Amino acid sequence: MSFDKFKDTIDQGDTVILYLSVNSMHAIQVQPKIKNRKDEWVDNVFQTTYGALKVQSLVGKKFGTKVALSRGWAYVLHPTPELWTLTLPHRTQIIYTPDISMIIFQLEIKPGSVVVESGTGSGSLSHALIRCIKPQGHLYTFDFHEYRVSVAREEFEAHGIGQFVSVEKRDVCQDGFGTELNGKADAVFLDLPHPWEAVPHAAASIKDLGKLIH
Ligand SMILES: C[S@@+](CC[C@H](N)C(=O)[O-])C[C@H]1O[C@@H](n2cnc3c(N)ncnc32)[C@H](O)[C@@H]1O
Repeated sequence: MSFDKFKDTIDQGDTVILYLSVNSMHAIQVQPKIKNRKDEWVDNVFQTTYGALKVQSLVGKKFGTKVALSRGWAYVLHPTPELWTLTLPHRTQIIYTPDISMIIFQLEIKPGSVVVESGTGSGSLSHALIRCIKPQGHLYTFDFHEYRVSVAREEFEAHGIGQFVSVEKRDVCQDGFGTELNGKADAVFLDLPHPWEAVPHAAASIKDLGKLIH
């Protein structure tokens, strides 16, 4: 639940970034048990090149501290959209931080903005957009791939930012963004194979003087 606000101490359910080196970071959800390949619940032990970490042992530790692995050590960092982009489970190609910063700048996204995005993909851009627009703004993100939609929704909830985002399964080239969004969006961003097919729908969603990038 740790993406919404910075906090000192790791709680059950938090996502933490296990930092081994600048080229080796892992996002871990702090939960005592996980399912193994046989679908059985087992102790959550995370394996790294420097040995194992009993994930439950992180509860109560301060973010930023050094933790022991069975053959070395690592730091446990507070998650940020930038670190999530570097560690998230890839379901698609993703947008990285240097491009994300330019997108946010050019779309003039700020706290309170209403933003429309498609496709959701792996949620890399979405996490950065949500940080920018919350708490009064809202992100409407669309993907036509059912699994990507459901995993993104689960991740936003697990990260404590579900209230700032609506995730919907929809082919935006064919069906647009829904009449409820007509004239509502401050900004629309399209990361699609054929973005031009969604441009007329994007135009319908954008407010006067709103911004579109594709
Ligand atoms: C490159 S990924 C987006 C990555 C995302 N920007 C990120 O940073 O994680 C493109 C996504 O667009 C989705 N997509 C492609 N065509 C679509 C369409 N017509 N309507 C909705 N989603 C579409 C794909 O399923 C895929 O998940």
